[in-house]
Amino acid sequence: MNDSSNIDLRNISQQVVSFIYKKAVKQNSRILKIPIVEFEWIKIPDNLNVNHVNFLRWTLKTYLQEAKITFKIVNNSFDIIIDESINLKIFSEEKEEPIAVSPIGTFSNWKDPFSPPSYFKDLIYFLRQKEKPILIGPKGCGKSRSLEEAMAILGRKVYRIALPQYRDPVELIGDFQIVEENGIPITKFIGGVITTALQEGYGLIIDEIDSSPPHLVSCLQQFFEPYGTQITIKTESGILNFSPHKDALIAATSNTWRGDDKTGEYSKAQGGDASTWDRFFPKIDCDYDVKAERLTLSNYLPQVVLDALFEEGDANHMGIIPSIRRSCKDPNSSMEDSIGFRSILRIGHHWKKLGWHKIMYYFVNEFKEENREAVSKIITNKLGREFIPTRNDYDESLPDYIPNLIPKLKEKGFIM
Ligand SMILES: Nc1ncnc2c1ncn2[C@@H]1O[C@H](COP(=O)(O)OP(=O)(O)OP(=O)(O)O)[C@@H](O)[C@H]1O
Ligand SMILES: [Mg+2]
Repeated sequence: MNDSSNIDLRNISQQVVSFIYKKAVKQNSRILKIPIVEFEWIKIPDNLNVNHVNFLRWTLKTYLQEAKITFKIVNNSFDIIIDESINLKIFSEEKEEPIAVSPIGTFSNWKDPFSPPSYFKDLIYFLRQKEKPILIGPKGCGKSRSLEEAMAILGRKVYRIALPQYRDPVELIGDFQIVEENGIPITKFIGGVITTALQEGYGLIIDEIDSSPPHLVSCLQQFFEPYGTQITIKTESGILNFSPHKDALIAATSNTWRGDDKTGEYSKAQGGDASTWDRFFPKIDCDYDVKAERLTLSNYLPQVVLDALFEEGDANHMGIIPSIRRSCKDPNSSMEDSIGFRSILRIGHHWKKLGWHKIMYYFVNEFKEENREAVSKIITNKLGREFIPTRNDYDESLPDYIPNLIPKLKEKGFIM
């Protein structure tokens, strides 16, 4: 065993002590019950031999003794007591755990802040448990984004793939190729998108699995098995045993439950194979989340506009977005349509530049042609006739020419 692995293993013990101390500060108690699963974040190096394991046990024991932490394992939890002589105050000044879910912020490459939806904590829990969640819900309700954020919070690089982009399983799985190494041609396995992601311990998001070519999904069945499984890959030029990295995570999204499209909006959806669906757990039912939408748009819009858009009161006090969604769901209205986070977010992005009037015109165009009048009506019912969405904001000959609109917008409180 070399020195560098000793240092790594010592570092693990230090992190465990610090984790326990911080937990005690957070819970304001020296007596703690911490489920074993909460120690999942510990990154133990691969290929530990017996000496390494003994060394790890020894450092852990010594560090815990020095830190005056006594513990025993009861029912999959550590029952922990921290001695009175330890001054926990110094740890209270340390930052929150990186895993903490902030109410708003982003961990991924998205520039818009993220407002965690109600299922987000469960999603993190299941991913930590190495389950393979599938998020099911209508377009633009935040399935892919939530997965990207969750993977980023868990420290994984993300590969987000849409299977319809691929034709041949080889692109996903890889193949033996002749490559030159030190000037000598050799046959080498070059991984595909899936095998590379799994080998590197990435977070792999299979987007819209219900509109994926069934033959590709079938080829990937083995990869969706629980981890630890060794997968035998048959390539055109040979057989290879492949093991995913222990940190690799897989999750999927789908617009429909196994291809069953009640809305008629997802023409590419096809029946999901039962054994594919069986491999994904949990199946998280997602829908539009007005609270998350409002929280995100609060970064762009003043209070009065937020209220007009998102208020969740009774029929007379319902904001534009919930009113539209209610009409979409109402069997008597015959307004079969939907509106997702993407279109709503654009109101926030462009409102300041284009003004209410014009951005709402484009917002109305997000709906099917036959529904646009009804949507406009919902908007004007809420706000008055001067808010008829139109793109003629800048046409002097029209009554809703922007300079005329400005006093009305001021009166309504939409602009200062
Ligand atoms: N909770 C959230 N907080 C902030 N922004 C969000 C949130 N959920 C979704 N968004 C934003 O809304 C848009 C649509 O989200 P996303 O792409 O995740 O939807 P989806 O459910 O995967 O849709 P589709 O089925 O069409 O793929 C993105 O711009 C995303 O950043
Ligand atoms: Mg998506």
